[in-house]
Amino acid sequence: MKTQMPGTGERFRTLKSPTMQHVDSVPPYQRELYQRGARGHKPRVPLHFDQLQERARQQFSARAFAYVAGGAGQETTQFANRLAFEDWCIQPKMLRDVSVRSLKTTIFGKEWRSPLMLSPVGALGLLREQADALVARAAARCRTPMVFSNQASVQMETCAALMGDSPRWFQLYWSKSNELVASLVSRAEACGCEAIVVTLDTPLLGWRPRDLQLGSLPFARAIGLAQYLSDPVFQSYLDEVQLRPSGPITLAALEVFYQACRNYGGSLWQNLRTRRPLKAVQQFVDIYSRTDLLWSDLKFLRKHTRLPIVLKGILCAEDARLALDAGMDGIWVSNHGGRQVDGARTSLNALVEVVAEVRGAVPVFFDSGIRAGADVFKALALGATAVGLGRPFALALGLAGEEGVVEVIENTLTELDLTMAFAGCCDLEGIRGHRLLRNE
Ligand code: GLV
Repeated sequence: MKTQMPGTGERFRTLKSPTMQHVDSVPPYQRELYQRGARGHKPRVPLHFDQLQERARQQFSARAFAYVAGGAGQETTQFANRLAFEDWCIQPKMLRDVSVRSLKTTIFGKEWRSPLMLSPVGALGLLREQADALVARAAARCRTPMVFSNQASVQMETCAALMGDSPRWFQLYWSKSNELVASLVSRAEACGCEAIVVTLDTPLLGWRPRDLQLGSLPFARAIGLAQYLSDPVFQSYLDEVQLRPSGPITLAALEVFYQACRNYGGSLWQNLRTRRPLKAVQQFVDIYSRTDLLWSDLKFLRKHTRLPIVLKGILCAEDARLALDAGMDGIWVSNHGGRQVDGARTSLNALVEVVAEVRGAVPVFFDSGIRAGADVFKALALGATAVGLGRPFALALGLAGEEGVVEVIENTLTELDLTMAFAGCCDLEGIRGHRLLRNE
């Protein structure tokens, strides 16, 4: 309801509701960028994704760039994920009152600043020391939920402690050890995670030519193993591990061993002497994921957590229906950023099908191909409840650390807010009611 200030007339309006945010025309972050620019301060990371990626290509190590930028096979799905966004267009609408807008939403009972979150990304330790901790700080500063990766380089408790009451979830790879699964999940609960996201599309690691060409597996250097190394169940297994013969010792192999010993933490000398980091890597490779997991196994997780369970990697109506039948609390449509199956359908097309099947019974989350705020708008208009950002924040992290991640989040949210306004909408309900057009 619009109220009128005494004596001000129709031209001056007050807030429509206390949760509405932007009054006036220029979103604060856009204004700040122009003001900083006028004083000669450029953004730390390029705003356009192609330039962001190009700068990362120039500055990252070959291994780091291959891991973040690469996808499965010939990367056709990664490319198609982007093209799918171009198949849809937004219909700008004129002369709507969009002076007061809000992106706020409530997910699993918790209020979020917006429907944007940070997707889980593994092995960020390739990019920076303390990588996940920097992301956690940035996410909390922007009040944007972070999904802790099972393959993080900083353990979840450390990240959670940096986030205050800002929302976070935990992403789980279902290990061959249910004891380890239960331990990871109970740790996630204890450090304030508000949902468990089970990634289903990685029973095996995808065929990733860029990494294979370099012979680069971050986990072999104990990068991305922090959740395991800090876990008492995982550590208890290491005492029993018998190292398998490793083949001829070359200079390169020694370097990988040395890196693993450094990344493992604790005394380097002790690590080199006991070769415990090698045991950890071998144990991780042996148990990190299961190829025989079934829908019926989800009962185990349901028994072991009181948190909502979200299944990530769902790409068709049939699996969405199975998720509902299994009593899951959310579905996350994703093709893992095109990193698993080259030739897989695009995540955006799958979203349309899954949303139609689910009909609002549970929230439907989405990622794979999101580069900017306008993409988030399209995914929301096609029925996503919330949307995950992946590569853009990882690239920004590598280039400019915490500040880079903050910039990418704020850029994305500001463009989303503006896109919403230009489409004549003031909130998420408006976006969901916005009909995208098929691009002819
Ligand atoms: C692991 O989650 C990966 O995509 O590398």
